[in-house]
Amino acid sequence: MAGDPVYEMMKAKRAEGPATILAIGTAVPPNCFYQDEFPDYYFRVTKSEHMTDLKEKFKRICEKTAIKKRYTYLNEEMLKEHPSIATFDRPSFNERQEMVIQETPRLGKEAAVKAIKEWGQLKSRITHLIFSSTSGIDMPGADYHLTKLLGLNPSVNRIMIYQQGCYAGGTALRVAKDVAENNKGARVLLVCSEITAIFFRGPSEHHMDSLVGQALFGDGAAALIIGADVDESIEKPIFELISASQTLAPNSENAMALHLREEGLTFHLSKDVPNLIGNNIEDIMVKAFKPLGISDWNSLFYITHPGGRAILDAVESNLGLDKEKMRESRYVLNEYGNLTGACVLFILDEMRKRSAKEGKATTGKGSEWGVLFGFGPGLTVETIVLRSAPLSN
Ligand code: CAA
Repeated sequence: MAGDPVYEMMKAKRAEGPATILAIGTAVPPNCFYQDEFPDYYFRVTKSEHMTDLKEKFKRICEKTAIKKRYTYLNEEMLKEHPSIATFDRPSFNERQEMVIQETPRLGKEAAVKAIKEWGQLKSRITHLIFSSTSGIDMPGADYHLTKLLGLNPSVNRIMIYQQGCYAGGTALRVAKDVAENNKGARVLLVCSEITAIFFRGPSEHHMDSLVGQALFGDGAAALIIGADVDESIEKPIFELISASQTLAPNSENAMALHLREEGLTFHLSKDVPNLIGNNIEDIMVKAFKPLGISDWNSLFYITHPGGRAILDAVESNLGLDKEKMRESRYVLNEYGNLTGACVLFILDEMRKRSAKEGKATTGKGSEWGVLFGFGPGLTVETIVLRSAPLSN
């Protein structure tokens, strides 16, 4: 109610402009695996060389992934020390937890240091920390450890988002948008860090979906600084977060699930996932872009979670997109594999860097408007409408 002092106070606490990405940093661990060599490595370290048919099938899957390489914290030495992790289902949760509880915030820190450097402001200006990870649940969580590792203000307001899977990058952006727009002057450090040691496992002849998972995922962390009412004398906008929403794809209840068990995080994936996403994507686009009066899907730029190559193909064909629209999403899939929640944040980074390198007028390859999709268990879809920033070339 206008004039009510409480309403006036609350109004004064809100920002005026949209939440804006001001910096992006990324990091990967040191062990790099080339996809064409991975079947040999995988069947050797899991002591499964005798499963010759399965290895042939795994080779076929790897060839179809459109992934060139992936990075992981886990390496052969560690697997020798922790042989349970290399089996399909021996209890190994404690060993996995020891790794990911330490490594998730450590990799997150590497990405965050880069983002803070790009932002160029004192880390004491960070008012909120949003940390998202599918790897490892613990208390205090990765958000606490990162606060300590970075030496952030002990009074930074922390939000920990665990176990959301691959849509988590979109979820973290949605939460960061609400925080930044509802707290004038807030500067949010968003970190998404994923370590696949929580679900690496040996092959099983009875679980082909698990085998598909072993061909897709890699480790990586990304960090963003987000704030509204940008002071352009000291900060540089990269993308504005215009709207954010989450929805469930109809009739998709058993399409994708991950369960945390004694044997680590297990993976269940239907072959229908690409179709389920493809069949629903246009409805989602119509809802997201109707308020802006936009219906030409080829006028936009795209940040699409590359859950697998077939998912990008399905989005591309169902929206009738030109081939170059998925270029950055395919590039990140090719260079890093599926990075779970961090993947879309890597694509944002690639999008703005490639736009600058190619002399485009905006951070969105010359387009003003764009969309970010996160896909994950449920099937859940996160949709963020983005506005690019002008680039002065
Ligand atoms: N389950 C079991 N087997 C599968 C499978 C699945 N979901 N998908 C494919 N396969 C098998 C096929 O049956 C085939 O086996 P054969 O060679 O013995 O016939 C083999 O894999 C290769 O399949 P195709 O020849 O049909 O090749 P393709 O063009 O479909 O490419 C693929 C294979 C790269 C895996 C592709 O299907 C793909 O990208 N699928 C999407 C994967 C997916 O759902 N990703 C989501 C991961 S989860 C996530 O991102 C979110 C999260 O929260 C963790």
